[in-house]
Amino acid sequence: MDSVKLVFFMLYIFLYQLAFSSSSPHLCPKDQALALLQFKHMFSINPDASYACFDYTGIQSYPRTLSWNKTTNCCSWDGVHCDETTGQVIALDLRCSQLQGKFHSNSSLFQLFNLKRLDLSYNDFTRSLISPKFGEFSSLTHLVLSRSSFAGLIPSEISHLSKLHVLRIGDQYGLSLGPHNFELLLKNLTQLRELNLHSVDISSTIPLNFSSYLINIRLPYTELCGVLPERVFHLSDLEFLYLYENPQLTVRFPTTKWNSSASLMMLYLYSVNITGRIPESFSHLTSLHELYMSDSNLSGPIKPLWNLTNIEFLDLGNNHLEGPISCQLSIFEKLKELSLRNNNLDGGLEFLSFNKSLTQLEYLKFSSNYLTGHIPPNVSGLPNLKQLYLSSNNLSGTIPSWIFSLPSLTVLDLGNNTFSGKIQEFKSNTLSQVYLNLNQLVGPIPNSLLNQPSLRILLLSHNNINGHIALAICNLKELIVLNLRRNNLEGTIPQCLGVMNENLWNLDLSKNSLSGTINTTFGIGNYLTVISLYGNKLTGKVPRSLINCKYLTLLDLGNNQLNDTFPNWLGDLPGLQILSLRSNKLHGPIKSSGNTNLFPQLQIMDLSSNGFSGNLPKSLFGNLQAMKEIDESTRTPQYVSDPYANYYDYLTTITTKGHDYDSAPILATNMIIDLSKNIFEGHIPSIIGDLVGLRTLNLSHNVLEGHIPASFKNLSVLESLDLSSNKISGEIPQQLASLTFLEVLNLSHNHLVGCIPRGKQFDTFENTSYQGNDGLRGLPPSRDCVRDDRVPQATTPAEQDQEEEEEDSPMISWQGVLMGYGCGLVIGLSIIYIMYSTQYPAWIHVYRVAEDADKILFLSYFVMFP
Ligand SMILES: *[C@@H]1O[C@H](CO)[C@@H](O)[C@H](O)[C@H]1NC(C)=O
Ligand SMILES: *[C@@H]1O[C@H](CO)[C@@H](O)[C@H](O)[C@H]1NC(C)=O
Ligand SMILES: *[C@@H]1O[C@H](CO)[C@@H](O)[C@H](O)[C@H]1NC(C)=O
Ligand SMILES: *[C@@H]1O[C@H](CO)[C@@H](O)[C@H](O)[C@H]1NC(C)=O
Ligand SMILES: *[C@@H]1O[C@H](CO)[C@@H](O)[C@H](O)[C@H]1NC(C)=O
Ligand SMILES: *[C@@H]1O[C@H](CO)[C@@H](O)[C@H](O)[C@H]1NC(C)=O
Ligand SMILES: *[C@@H]1O[C@H](CO)[C@@H](O)[C@H](O)[C@H]1NC(C)=O
Ligand SMILES: *[C@@H]1O[C@H](CO)[C@@H](O)[C@H](O)[C@H]1NC(C)=O
Ligand SMILES: *[C@@H]1O[C@H](CO)[C@@H](O)[C@H](O)[C@H]1NC(C)=O
Ligand SMILES: *[C@@H]1O[C@H](CO)[C@@H](O)[C@H](O)[C@H]1NC(C)=O
Ligand SMILES: *[C@@H]1O[C@H](CO)[C@@H](O)[C@H](O)[C@H]1NC(C)=O
Repeated sequence: MDSVKLVFFMLYIFLYQLAFSSSSPHLCPKDQALALLQFKHMFSINPDASYACFDYTGIQSYPRTLSWNKTTNCCSWDGVHCDETTGQVIALDLRCSQLQGKFHSNSSLFQLFNLKRLDLSYNDFTRSLISPKFGEFSSLTHLVLSRSSFAGLIPSEISHLSKLHVLRIGDQYGLSLGPHNFELLLKNLTQLRELNLHSVDISSTIPLNFSSYLINIRLPYTELCGVLPERVFHLSDLEFLYLYENPQLTVRFPTTKWNSSASLMMLYLYSVNITGRIPESFSHLTSLHELYMSDSNLSGPIKPLWNLTNIEFLDLGNNHLEGPISCQLSIFEKLKELSLRNNNLDGGLEFLSFNKSLTQLEYLKFSSNYLTGHIPPNVSGLPNLKQLYLSSNNLSGTIPSWIFSLPSLTVLDLGNNTFSGKIQEFKSNTLSQVYLNLNQLVGPIPNSLLNQPSLRILLLSHNNINGHIALAICNLKELIVLNLRRNNLEGTIPQCLGVMNENLWNLDLSKNSLSGTINTTFGIGNYLTVISLYGNKLTGKVPRSLINCKYLTLLDLGNNQLNDTFPNWLGDLPGLQILSLRSNKLHGPIKSSGNTNLFPQLQIMDLSSNGFSGNLPKSLFGNLQAMKEIDESTRTPQYVSDPYANYYDYLTTITTKGHDYDSAPILATNMIIDLSKNIFEGHIPSIIGDLVGLRTLNLSHNVLEGHIPASFKNLSVLESLDLSSNKISGEIPQQLASLTFLEVLNLSHNHLVGCIPRGKQFDTFENTSYQGNDGLRGLPPSRDCVRDDRVPQATTPAEQDQEEEEEDSPMISWQGVLMGYGCGLVIGLSIIYIMYSTQYPAWIHVYRVAEDADKILFLSYFVMFP
């Protein structure tokens, strides 16, 4: 019988195993197999638990423990290694094994006393504490717990592991160590080669007593402070030193040759406090491949680096380095990336023309220095250059066409220099981002630019580009940002622009001389978020196809000659936040449809200087949901930003760096209604008092009558109120004295009577706020005014000086209002609305962001008001 044979065979195997188990070198002890199986069953398998594995290690995660099977020898299990002679389990490699669950102190793992190597990285132990029992693995030489969702205090018992060569615990959120444990750790782990506590909160100085065998030190984002012991640089085997993002850590380099000079390959010290010069001792670092010391307060010349002939990556951006960029640069034959942006370097670009060198160079970033002179007329090197940033220098002359034609170039940033002349035609099909803004370029947009199949961002704003916008622009199927603002472009807007591709987010043609009707058809399904055609000579109607721009956040058609009635249908655009139609020939009453959810997100509505008539749009005010709330989050300002912006990490990077672009971004909390300079008549509807988020209300220069509604007292964050040059009568409601944020008040040239309210803000307004109201008493405000109760609130005022002054009383002080918020706090991809108050407005922002982010997919926008 076969089955009898089988049973017999298995019995034989069993007895064989029993007989030899104690002496077989490869059979693991039963208790250890059991411990491993128990360990396995403590966790569930979830691929998400190892989600970061591939990106960081390059290996695919898989559930190693699934194959563990009590009927087989545990020494053969995946990830388990036994001692050849004793059979003891000595190594466990469970990285990227999709384990998920709590890691308790009673874990059977701690029965494997003989472990020498333990790797549990890239799993998800659901914020378990690291058990003190890890300190009992007294033979351990390798302990790797990175990115495995441990949290809490790393126990001091880890410092019992005095044989450790490799300790990696970092790369997870919420671990701390503390000064005492850190000192113990360094003192006791005298054999340590590698210490990786990436992003563990250490909050300590680095003690002097640490292993002299260290090869690899990785302590970025650890809140280290104090002065880095010089001994670190004298570790004679040191290859990797990563201490970046420890702004409180002060680094002073040895002035004499470091003992690590010959071994050191990677030095990452950005965003630490390295005050002072780069010492001569750097010239001995001949093995250095990567040097990152950006954002570190370095000053003086970069000369000591000229000997680093093996350097591949060099980033010294955002320091105060000075002196000329010399031809010496060309000795860096292995250089792939050179960033010296935002320093005080000067000199010319001659080094570019040394065509034998720099053949490996891919990224060259020199923005925001004091480079002068011309770009050399020709160059035959730089075959691998992908990104060239030279913006915000003092470069001049024409832009040679070779620069566009570099065979690998994708990003060319020459903005904010004084380049002049025409943009030559060139040969290339690799360009993806081109920034030529803020120069003195003339002539038409070259066809070569319009033939770039991969072009995503084109900034030509603030030049003197003229001619028509060629239809060929619609061939740019990848274009995301098209900014041609402030040039001399004329002719009509190509009809195809609205349907050219589905990627375009930002279309800015403002401040040109474009004419004709806007008969561009905006296609269904487009992603346009910002459209600005401000300041042209456009005629005709507001194009109805704008209704297809479902993602529109900002629409600025101001300062044109549009002749239409109020486009109330725009109210159906769900995300519209900013609408400016100012200074056109728009007319007629503002009707709103029956829809009660018009303009739900609108926060800025500027209809000023048109011919709108009839009563103020009471039912429209009844909509405007966004204005009916006060966002109290003014302490952490949020800006009006692109709905997609959050998908891009670099946004947060830009934010945390807190760059000051000297602009006035539109805060999400800034709410403005400007209906001034129209011919609105009738009463001011008290429903405006429901728009409690309003910061600025301008109804001046209309023919409004009746009283100032007492409901205005609800506008508790109102900062600017202009009702001047109307026919408003009655008294100023005393309740307005409660508007404690009111900075600007203009009630002049009305028919107001009675006493001017006293107290709080009202004590700060000048007479000009009230002039031209002959019935007002208490002028100047300093003079006492006893309220005369005999003047009934509702009667028509007495004789008024009807003669209204022709001189424009100031419009809402946009500047005042906008500047009132933390200027300079700029979120990377904000839509920024600024006053046209500076010669060079804030769009530098656009390319600054670009410089910091290779994968540019952002939307940034700035509108200018004259
Ligand atoms: C364990 O191994 C035996 C024999 O190889 C096999 O029959 C059994 O299905 C395995 N069990 C598991 C859970 O893999
Ligand atoms: C280990 O401890 C946890 C919590 O302390 C408990 O829930 C679990 O049952 C324990 N497991 C064993 C095998 O003792
Ligand atoms: C240092 O290690 C030894 C064993 O190697 C241990 O006995 C001692 O407690 C450790 N010291 C600290 C402070 O952890
Ligand atoms: C460093 O630690 C070792 C071992 O604990 C000890 O022998 C030595 O005295 C310490 N040195 C200093 C300077 O603290
Ligand atoms: C940076 O270092 C300089 C000089 O070494 C020191 O004066 C300054 O206080 C340090 N700054 C910080 C934030 O530690
Ligand atoms: C540098 O190395 C030399 C030779 O190994 C040694 O004598 C010297 O003490 C070391 N210097 C430092 C500061 O560690
Ligand atoms: C650095 O280079 C210069 C000339 O290029 C040379 O004279 C000097 O000896 C070098 N210094 C070191 C430390 O290699
Ligand atoms: C930067 O260096 C200057 C002197 O060069 C010093 O006055 C200043 O405090 C340093 N800044 C920081 C943040 O350490
Ligand atoms: C342009 O560059 C100058 C320095 O050359 C700088 O001061 C200015 O801020 C830059 N302007 C913009 C908008 O980037
Ligand atoms: C678009 O406008 C231009 C100029 O106003 C005009 O010449 C052209 O015929 C218009 N096209 C359509 C389809 O209306
Ligand atoms: C607006 O257009 C109409 C004809 O459509 C014309 O009668 C009127 O004069 C225009 N208004 C202005 C201010 O140009």
